[in-house]
Amino acid sequence: MKPEQKTKTIFSVAGGKGGVGKSIFSVALGVKLARDGNSVALVDLDLGAANLHTCLGIIKKTPTIADFILKKVPSLEDILLETSQENMKAISGAEFVAGMANPAHWMKLKIMRHVKALPVDYIIIDLGAGVHFNTLDFFGMSDRGIVVTAPEPGAVMNAYSFIKGALFRRLQSVFKKHPEIAPVIDTETKRTDGDKRFTLEWLTVRIKELAPDMLPLIREIERDFCPALVVNRMPEGQRHVLVRNLISLCKERLGLTVEHAGNLPDIPEITGYLLKIPGFLNTRTGKPYLASIEKIADKLITHSESETEKQKTGTDFSDEQIEKIIDFMEGLDNGVFKGSNKSTWKLRMYFKPSEVVDFLINRGLTHEAFYKK
Ligand SMILES: Nc1ncnc2c1ncn2[C@@H]1O[C@H](COP(=O)(O)OP(=O)(O)O)[C@@H](O)[C@H]1O
Ligand SMILES: [Mg+2]
Repeated sequence: MKPEQKTKTIFSVAGGKGGVGKSIFSVALGVKLARDGNSVALVDLDLGAANLHTCLGIIKKTPTIADFILKKVPSLEDILLETSQENMKAISGAEFVAGMANPAHWMKLKIMRHVKALPVDYIIIDLGAGVHFNTLDFFGMSDRGIVVTAPEPGAVMNAYSFIKGALFRRLQSVFKKHPEIAPVIDTETKRTDGDKRFTLEWLTVRIKELAPDMLPLIREIERDFCPALVVNRMPEGQRHVLVRNLISLCKERLGLTVEHAGNLPDIPEITGYLLKIPGFLNTRTGKPYLASIEKIADKLITHSESETEKQKTGTDFSDEQIEKIIDFMEGLDNGVFKGSNKSTWKLRMYFKPSEVVDFLINRGLTHEAFYKK
């Protein structure tokens, strides 16, 4: 791909369970992309237990995401650190700072806006364990979410809970202001009887009954929410039955397609290289790990290239701009939206603002909030 054709892609790496190999995978994926001539930024957004920097051998005191959250630096670009890998920079995660593990929603949006603005081809966000709202939110805001798991029952079940949590969080944020659909999603979120009823198809049928004009939104979620699964420490040559079960569970219970992006081998010698993962990939024992990363990266990139053809993700908008544009749309004549529906476009403003603004501009409309950064 020629440089001028490149679109920025944001991967986020999560997994539900701690210690499954997310940070090592994030670094190795970054190394592979950087060696292919792409510029890469690794961003540690594990706001509770950051460890990405240690995998890179960054152990002395350096600026971290805390400096940005606490407004000591104005931009994330100011805290990009060099790594031992050419073309690959990193933003260190913060040590525990009281109150910071749970930033306010506006701060999460601000962090994501700055992440999206980083001047690189690929951004890889290393997320924390668990199903904290901020992990689910950062996962949902990236272009492609990657779930890392180990082939053991606890880790696989945590991966399922994580995927389910991320899907519900996404549905809640898209339909949060809809008077009929929001309560339906809310009820399903609180069910404790083993999600026997809920799937995306089931929700689609409910939406068809309650608010058929919202169907395009649920179709978009169905199309775009497609987590990739990476199984770490997989015994050689096996396609583990637990992994197969996880994929079919997501299909049957949630109506979600999860793509198995690949497996990584178990390499006990890795423990000797925990402070130099890029160096590990050059060693004889690191070779099979790197070979698997290369296959996984190719799969992830092919997927995200076909995605960018479908959707234009352009500039991002602030909360304030979004509210202003929604007010502006409220006052518009329904005729502007002929062939579609005003309230659908208003809701879409919350998660695909650039698409809505393109639509309005094409209809000959303008507003200062379309452009103000
Ligand atoms: N492919 C692997 N083979 C052997 N050990 C691994 C592998 N991946 C990770 N580990 C072990 O798991 C530990 C946790 O990895 P890490 O990437 O820090 O996990 P996470 O970020 O998910 O908490 C590492 O310190 C290492 O000992
Ligand atoms: Mg980690």
